[in-house]
Parts: sequence; structure tokens; C-alpha cells
Amino acid sequence: MAEPLLIRSRLWDYPVRFTADVAGALDAAAEEPGVLVIDATVRERFGVGRWRDDRVITIPAHEETKTLAGSGDLLAQLVAGGMRRSHRLVVVGGGIVQDVASFAASVLYRGVSWVFFPTTLLAQCDSCIGGKTSINHAGAKNILGNFHPPREVVIDTGFLETLPDAAIGSGIGEMLHYFVYADSPFLERTAREHDALLGDRSRLAPFIDESLRIKQRVIEQDEFEQGERAKFNYGHTFGHALEAATAYAVPHGYAVTVGMDLANFVSREIGLMAPDTFDALHAVLRVNFPAYDWRTLDLASYATLLTRDKKNTATQVRCILAEGPGRLRVHPLRLREDGLDRLVQRYFTSELPYA
Ligand SMILES: NC(=O)c1ccc[n+]([C@@H]2O[C@H](COP(=O)([O-])OP(=O)(O)OC[C@H]3O[C@@H](n4cnc5c(N)ncnc54)[C@H](O)[C@@H]3O)[C@@H](O)[C@H]2O)c1
Repeated sequence: MAEPLLIRSRLWDYPVRFTADVAGALDAAAEEPGVLVIDATVRERFGVGRWRDDRVITIPAHEETKTLAGSGDLLAQLVAGGMRRSHRLVVVGGGIVQDVASFAASVLYRGVSWVFFPTTLLAQCDSCIGGKTSINHAGAKNILGNFHPPREVVIDTGFLETLPDAAIGSGIGEMLHYFVYADSPFLERTAREHDALLGDRSRLAPFIDESLRIKQRVIEQDEFEQGERAKFNYGHTFGHALEAATAYAVPHGYAVTVGMDLANFVSREIGLMAPDTFDALHAVLRVNFPAYDWRTLDLASYATLLTRDKKNTATQVRCILAEGPGRLRVHPLRLREDGLDRLVQRYFTSELPYA
């Protein structure tokens, strides 16, 4: 079992520990005053142990839950159920349940404590630390939120057994972006062990640990995303627009994987990345590419979607490019004047997204 991590935050420090006995940890949490907020699917698959029904709130995990209306419903149930400022929320689920529950925890009585048992690979390797709460509003994703870290995170890879392969591949995409950021030896290892990781999820524990340690180093330095933390948008600016342009047919972490390859392609074409570095990274990333026919992608609307990202302007994209693993750069490019639109078009009309 990996050594626990202690995340240092300007708000409060919190441990992340790995366990093989999440049921015992959840039962122990039931001994303290508070409410269990659990993903509906997770409840169905794993139950709620010793938690009494009147202390459990079940949440369906879809993006519509992650809204002012969804968090309003949750807050109303918490208040009606007698939740006090000294009580805590015990949150069990993936990123959606995390976001809506942590947002509610951050505003209820100006902040109640919460502890988190992440149940998806994305939540275990990424979103469980960092303290961001985000909800969707006015048709835009993640535009409302604040920082409200948990008091503790407990990770059991046993939860990953009931996830479909696509959710694991998507989480692997998120981990790959940390591994490129830090030039981690886990980068090559992920490509080598990709099939084995999908087949035996308990093997993911050291990969999750490595991702969290990389993220930890950066968020402890730049918790509120004033500088270095922005480089974690590597693959994401291009990826978010890919998710939207494919009507979310391509899951997040897979879109991030292709988004990294596209960022590397742009980096190579503008002379930032050496061709053999591009080839080496492409060989690793392509192992986690989704089977998607990019020829159906509407390139004009993709370019527009790129500029819609909250960190961009109408004509300029704040790209995170790379010289190579461990050497990422914030590099704004204008769509027309700098030829970003033509580079994107060349990428998707080449064999690269398939080869
Ligand atoms: N706050 C942050 O820092 C942060 C960071 C990254 C992403 N996010 C958000 O996370 C969300 C995505 O979260 P996600 O990818 O973890 O998935 P999710 O929470 O959307 O869950 C995906 C599906 O898996 C199901 N599920 C969850 N755990 C399961 C399990 N163990 N077995 C079987 N099914 C299970 C859920 O019911 C749901 O149907 C997005 O809304 C994204 O914006 C937040």
C-alpha cells in the first residue's frame, strides 16, 4: 500500500490515504455526526454499510445534477435533515458528485467539512486533490465555484472494478497528462502496461499515487492557479473543444490524450518540439487514443469552440505547448494570424489521429 500523502493547502492540510478496506473506513465514518452523499450507481453496486437511510442522500451522477438547481436540492435536503455546522459530509462518488457536494459544503453555513471517497479513476488520480469546486451554469461547464478542499481523501482501487473500460482509459488519459508534465518514468510504463491496467485495476494504485504526487507539487506552490498550475491545461484546451465538437461522444480523458498529441503537433510545426521528440510522445499517447472517426469532425465549429474556453479570447487561444516531456510552455496563439486554425486542420486531415 502506498505511503499516505499530506496535501498542504492555504486553507487546511489534508491527508490522502490508500486502503483495501473502504467498507471499514465508511463504517467508521458513520460513527461521527454527518450525512453520507453517495452516487446512485455506487450505492447500487457497493451499498452504504452501517449508514442509516435517514442519513444518506443519493445523487444521480449527470452534468444536470452539477448545477445551481442540483446543489440547491442537495442543500435543501441537508438543512431539512438537520445538518449542523459541526457535522460533516462524507462524499462517495466520482467527479460529478464531488463537485456538487463540495460546492454545497462550501456554502452551507459558510463552509462545513467534507471527506471524500473517490470512486472513479479520474476522481482518484486527479480531482480528489486541489480543492476546486465547480458547477455548470447558463449552459457553460464549470463556470461557478470556489476552493474548498476536503479534510481527508480515502482511496480504494476496489471501486474501479465496476467501471467500464472506457472510464479507465479516460482516467489513464488524465494520468498521462501529469506524466508528460513531469517527465515521469510512468509515461512509458503506462504505454507498456496499458492492456494489463485495463484488465486488473488493482495495478493502477502506483500510477494513481504518482499522478497525485505530481499534482501535489504544483498545487502546493500555486494553489489558486496564478501561474504554474495553468500548465495542467496541457491537452485540456484542445481536449475540451474536442469533447464539445463530438457532442461528448469522446470521453474527457481520451479527448485530453488526443488534445496532447495535437498540442505536440502544433509545438513541432512552430519549431518548439523536435520531430523525434514528437514521434516518441506520439508512440506513447496513441496507445490511449479512442476509436473515433475524426473525419466527421466539423473543423470550423471546432476552431470556434477552441476560442470559447473560459481562459481564451474570441481570436486567441492560450495554448499549453511543449518542448518535450517536463518542458511545457504557456503559448498564446491567434487562430487566423498565427495559423492555428490551419495547423488544427492539417492534424485532423493527416493520419496522426489514427496512426
Ligand atoms: N473539481 C475538480 O477538480 C474536477 C477535476 C476534474 C474533473 N471534474 C469534474 O468531474 C466530472 C467527471 O467525473 P468522473 O469522470 O469522475 O465521472 P462521473 O462522476 O461523471 O461518473 C461517471 C459515471 O460513472 C458512475 N460511477 C462512479 N463510480 C462508479 C463505480 N465505482 N462503478 C461504476 N460506476 C461508477 C457514475 O454514476 C456515472 O454514471 C466532470 O463534471 C468534471 O468537470 C472536477
